[in-house]
Formats: sequence, C-alpha cells, structure tokens
Amino acid sequence: NKGSYEHYMQKEIHEQPESLKTTMRGRLIRGGSCKAKSVLLGGLKDHLKTIRRSRRIVFIGCGTSYNAALAARPILEELSGIPVTMEIASDLVDRQGPIYREDTAVFVSQSGETADTLQALQYASENGALCVGITNTVGSAIARNTHCGVHINAGAEIGVASTKAYTSQIVVMAMVSLAIAGDTISNQERRDAVIDGLYDLPNKVRDVLELDQEMKELAKLLIAEQSLLVFGRGYNYATALEGALKVKEVALMHSEGMLAGEMKHGPLALVDENLPIVVIATRDACFSKQQSVIQQLHARKGRLIVICSKGDAASVSPGGLCRIIEVPQVVDCLQPVINIVPLQLLAYHLTVLRGYNVDQPRNLAKRELLN
Ligand code: UD1
Ligand code: BG6
Repeated sequence: NKGSYEHYMQKEIHEQPESLKTTMRGRLIRGGSCKAKSVLLGGLKDHLKTIRRSRRIVFIGCGTSYNAALAARPILEELSGIPVTMEIASDLVDRQGPIYREDTAVFVSQSGETADTLQALQYASENGALCVGITNTVGSAIARNTHCGVHINAGAEIGVASTKAYTSQIVVMAMVSLAIAGDTISNQERRDAVIDGLYDLPNKVRDVLELDQEMKELAKLLIAEQSLLVFGRGYNYATALEGALKVKEVALMHSEGMLAGEMKHGPLALVDENLPIVVIATRDACFSKQQSVIQQLHARKGRLIVICSKGDAASVSPGGLCRIIEVPQVVDCLQPVINIVPLQLLAYHLTVLRGYNVDQPRNLAKRELLN
C-alpha cells in the first residue's frame, strides 16, 4: 500500500525516520539517569565472545548491502580493534578467497535470498568461519543458514532500489560495533556519543527529508546529463558508491562513485565544465582534505554540487560558484545515514522526470537472470 505516495521508492525514502526507529526499538538500553547506555542485540549476545576473539571480520554482500557494510566498516574497526575486510559476494566465490575458522563472516542482505550472497555463505560455512547474518527478512535463506545474526526490522521493502533497508543496515552495523566493543572505560565517551547519535538520528533524518523540493529542482537541471560523478572519502566513501548506484539503477543515468583520495590518480582527467560532480564534504576528520579536492576540481572548472554540513556553505564553495546542499550534522560514523538521503531523493526525482519506471527499473528481469 503506497498510501499518499506515487511510488514505493518515494514512500520508503520518506518513511526512514520511522523505519530507523523500528530498527532500534528495544535494542538501545537507557542508563540510570535516563541517558543512553548500551545496546542489546538478542541474536548476537551469546556469540559476542567468539566474535571478539576472531582474527578478522569479513563483510560480504552485493549492491546496496555491500555499500551499507562499507559505510559501517570504519566504526566497526575503531570500536572492535579487529581488522575488517570487505568482499563482494560473487568475487569471493570467483576467487575462492581464503576464509578461516578464526574469521567472523558477516552476510548483509536485505532480502536474505540473493544467490551470490548465499553461495558465499555456503563457502564460508564450509571453511569453518562463524557466519553472522544481517537481513531484513525473517525466515529467509540467510537468516536460516547463518549461525546467528540480527534482523534489521525495517519493514517490507517493495521498491527494487533499496533505500530504507540501506539506512537500517548501517544503524544495525553501528549497533553491532557497539555490542562487540563492550563497555570499557577507554571507549566510554565515544560509545556514549554514538549511542546518543543513534537516539537522535530519526529526527535528523526527518530534517534532511525537507530537502525534497530542492533535490527535485536539482534533478531538473541534471535531467539530460549523460553522466554524474560522486566523490566521497572516509565514512562517506560508501555514500558516494551508494548515491551513484541509486542514480544508475533507477534513473538509468551513468554514474560513478569514487574515492576522493584517488581523484588525482585518473578521474581528474574527466573533469571539464560540463560533467556534473557531487562532492560529499560534511564535517569529519577528512573535511580539510575534501576542501582541497573541491579546490582542485574548481581549478579545472568542474561543475560542482557540494553536500556539506549546515552553516558550511562558505567553506566549501570557492568563489560561491558551487551548488550547495546543506545537511544536518550528526556523529561522524552515522553521517552516511543522513548524507545518502539527498542522493536517494535526487535519484527518485531524476527517474520520474526522465519518465522511467521507479519501482521496477527496466533491467530487473535481466538482473534476476544475472543472479
Ligand atoms: C527477537 C524476536 C522479536 C522479539 C524479541 C524480543 C524474532 C525473529 N525476533 O528479536 O520478535 O520482539 O526477540 O526479545 O523472533 N538470526 C540469524 N541470522 C540472521 C538474523 C537473525 O541466525 O541473519 C537469528 C538470531 O541469532 C536470533 C534470531 O534469529 O537467534 C532472531 O534475531 P533478531 O530478530 O534479530 O533477534 P531479537 O532482536 O532478539
Ligand atoms: C541486486 C539488486 O540484485 O541485489 C540490488 O539489484 C541489491 O539493488 C542487491 O542491493 C543485494 O540485494 P540484497 O537483498 O542481498 O540486499
């Protein structure tokens, strides 16, 4: 039921404040003074000791689910101190890459049924790894065949392009990071900041959804473009990949998400006054590096659209020439949840304006065959 919305993708983008609340419900525990305290993930609690002892955590997924894991990787590395590596499910299977008994393999999948991810699960399981599922679908193959896991509880996602599942996956993996970390004195301040950030997130997502009209206006400007680049780094490398994936899979426009740190090693050659480029430059430890990326792109007359934190317009727009999208600031590791929303809205409006099918992109059947 689409309610008052025209498309499921639109409905699912706009219901993210609620879906995130459902994802967190019952899992954030308040302390004595009513302050946030810890997380409780029923599906993991008996396995945390084993996970903490593992030599490596390997994230495995496809498409949007892979991107969500990539977004959560920095906070998991930081809070667990365990090396975290990334695998695209099909590539792990193609390479028969090394997976050991001392590994924790985390399978991320909205549907819980993606064939590539299931093959990787079977492979990792045969190699003796602890297999953990993060899925939206109770009773799915991944939920059934993993040793333990967490349901993201985002509610059914009907649009083929994943939106609310992406943000709920990131939130679950941030909670998993907190659960693995446990509460030591040394990480208490950081943990409190992340937990407070989680409580606050649904309201901040509601704020960022107010950009809807602004993103529609931007979509009108981009409607006839051939291509769109998206540069991000750090916590928001994943945002660049996921924003570009949304634009290509529903708006059927070529788009590439790129690591800003790699800009001068190739992509810079593409920059001219015609190609639109989105740069994600919200406040975090990489901010000044992104400012210098913007400067270099500007020096080559790049057509820039900059996503920045509220109040930062003047700091990210040389000569006032960039188009600016200001978003609310949250704790750095949760900023990807906020930053993807304007790009979801952009992909949605581009698709409608270009006259394509929003909820079932033309190559859906082909994609199923490819699986
Ligand atoms: C569970 C209940 C929830 C109830 C809550 C009350 C289910 C599905 N969930 O939620 O309805 O309100 O207790 O305490 O009944 N699992 C996997 N692989 C996966 C995902 C999950 O093995 O990919 C396993 C978990 O290890 C766990 C079970 O499935 O044993 C349920 O997981 P989850 O729904 O996340 O657990 P709770 O949040 O505790
Ligand atoms: C692909 C879809 O087939 O599967 C992507 O086109 C999706 O949109 C990917 O992200 C992974 O799906 P799931 O259900 O495993 O998260």
